[in-house]
Amino acid sequence: MRIDILTVLPELLESPFQHSIMQRAHDKGLLEVHLHNPRDYSTQKQKQVDDYQFGGGAGMVMTIQPIADCIDKLKSEREYDEIIYLTPDGERLTQSIANQLSMHQNIIMVCGHYKGIDERIREHYITREISIGDFVLSGGELAAAVLTDAIGRLLPGVLNDETSALFDSFQDNLLAPPIYTRPADYKGWKVPEVLLSGHQKNIDDWRYEQAVKRTRERRPDLLDEE
Ligand code: ADE
Repeated sequence: MRIDILTVLPELLESPFQHSIMQRAHDKGLLEVHLHNPRDYSTQKQKQVDDYQFGGGAGMVMTIQPIADCIDKLKSEREYDEIIYLTPDGERLTQSIANQLSMHQNIIMVCGHYKGIDERIREHYITREISIGDFVLSGGELAAAVLTDAIGRLLPGVLNDETSALFDSFQDNLLAPPIYTRPADYKGWKVPEVLLSGHQKNIDDWRYEQAVKRTRERRPDLLDEE
């Protein structure tokens, strides 16, 4: 999969993909992330990418031309499945959306800054708008990093058997059950007996019950979604 991210702050996104699982995805040739700065496409003398709002009001708006030219160039090179704008007024990101997006070949993500982007970019270029939660970040970069991570780890071959995404929280509308590792007894705090029993059916049953219990206590809304 290839993800092209448009950002006026590429430095913010240089590190997140250079570690751990995202690095592995890259090294295995399964995920390519390319950063593009709309500023490099600005036809203004000062390489300006923002301007005052029509109608007045505080805050600058990202202008159409640099973003449009950057997207047009990318679209002339390959077909894109989605052009996503990260914005607090988009649809809320869920595991199911990450699953859908992980099936695509090429995605563009547009990070907003200042007050946001000119509405005409949203009308004419953007195919999907995604929010990572009901809070406002100072720009779309961290949201793009979150979305890229959520998608990237789902690409076949990125995770190995032990870390398989099949057992993640949310993958079956349940939160994950509690997990433990050695020692089995730390200062008298013991690991549940069943996990040490070697009886796989009992272990699976216990994990399922715990997952349901945890979901009922913390996120009953997930159980209602069936
Ligand atoms: N940009 C600013 N806040 C955001 C959010 N919550 N989700 C996605 N993009 C954003």
